[in-house]
Amino acid sequence: MKIAVPKERAPGERRVALVPEIVAKFVKGGHVVTVERGAGTSAGYLDAAYESAGATIAPDTRVAYGDADVIVRVAKPSDAELDGIRRGTVLIGFLAPLGDPRSVERYAERGITALSMETVPRTSKAQAMDALSSQANIGGYKAALLAANHLPKFFPMLTTAAGTIQPAKALIIGAGVAGLQAIATCRRLGAVVTAYDTRPVVAEQVKSLGAKFLEIDVGESGEGQGGYAKELSPEALAKQRAGMVKAIGASDVVITTAAIPGKRAPILVTAEAVAAMAPGSVIVDLAAETGGNVEGTKPGEVVTSANGVTIVGLLNLASDLAYDASRLYARNVQALLDYITKDGALALDPDDEIVAGTTITRDGQIVHEPTRAALTGGAA
Ligand code: NAI
Repeated sequence: MKIAVPKERAPGERRVALVPEIVAKFVKGGHVVTVERGAGTSAGYLDAAYESAGATIAPDTRVAYGDADVIVRVAKPSDAELDGIRRGTVLIGFLAPLGDPRSVERYAERGITALSMETVPRTSKAQAMDALSSQANIGGYKAALLAANHLPKFFPMLTTAAGTIQPAKALIIGAGVAGLQAIATCRRLGAVVTAYDTRPVVAEQVKSLGAKFLEIDVGESGEGQGGYAKELSPEALAKQRAGMVKAIGASDVVITTAAIPGKRAPILVTAEAVAAMAPGSVIVDLAAETGGNVEGTKPGEVVTSANGVTIVGLLNLASDLAYDASRLYARNVQALLDYITKDGALALDPDDEIVAGTTITRDGQIVHEPTRAALTGGAA
């Protein structure tokens, strides 16, 4: 099997889809790997390391594509980056089928078999392929560091000759993969942490990390199908927003990570809640990518509210830790590729649960139901 790794060109994207360690494994398995020149440089992996791992370095994207059977990427390709991909090629990456369903039409038109890392089923069997989790974990860690960096206070309690410093108070809203890592990182830095989620099952996980679980009676559970979050009713959301104002106002740091798969992130921190915070407090809105959880978030920017609260809406935080993010992502990709190959060749079984969940287009057709629904404006 011929595998191509192009250089990522999306703004701010520093990650690379395969790292030399994983390339060496593919080469050992009898596969041919071509890496575009400089593809790993911004993540800390030099061309020489890929060559030592057995890859061929291609001078540009088109040469890298060559007659590849599989193209592995991090971010979805631009239209220009689609040029030169042969019909029948398998394209793997964060293809954002629900965020940008129109791009999926272009894969179908070009006869590309597109597999999206976002839609790998989150079952135990597919855990090693779960790139959403591997990258969200990094985002949660980085969010805590950004909060500490912007806060004009210490996170830990300190007793010094010049006086005692009280620990910072952090509130984490949304305790999924990113939120749990944000809790753990804030705790390690010494903050006193409280967390909230609409799925009651999360309370135990929050407590096991040494944080307090904020109880708000919104009158319904936020737990949907398969244990994932569902959208709250407008009444429940209003109760949640009102119930959180006091806790937000009492926090030095708020990290929001609340998301509903395939939907715009809910607004949870209202302008009133931001106004209740002390000047110098920090909000890191990890949901900025899908619209933001905070009134006043500007995606991609750090802004200051009228009362002096710093609101961090930076995007793609996993890319800031490009070295480890690429290593973990490459392992996710390797696990998926291993799963869909038999005797050294691609063997995509459309009836397999993981293949079916991951495949967005095949044989010129859009085969992913939620994407089709998004294109026709219907419900998934
Ligand atoms: P996500 O990024 O879609 O959402 C983040 C969090 O926001 C979730 O915990 C959700 O409950 C919460 N949320 C949604 N609306 C909210 C609201 N109004 N207020 C407060 N919080 C709200 O979810 P993520 O992190 O991708 O995964 C969530 C959970 O899925 C994990 O905690 C885990 O239990 C499960 N999971 C299971 C896997 C497996 O079995 N292999 C793999 C990955 C995740």
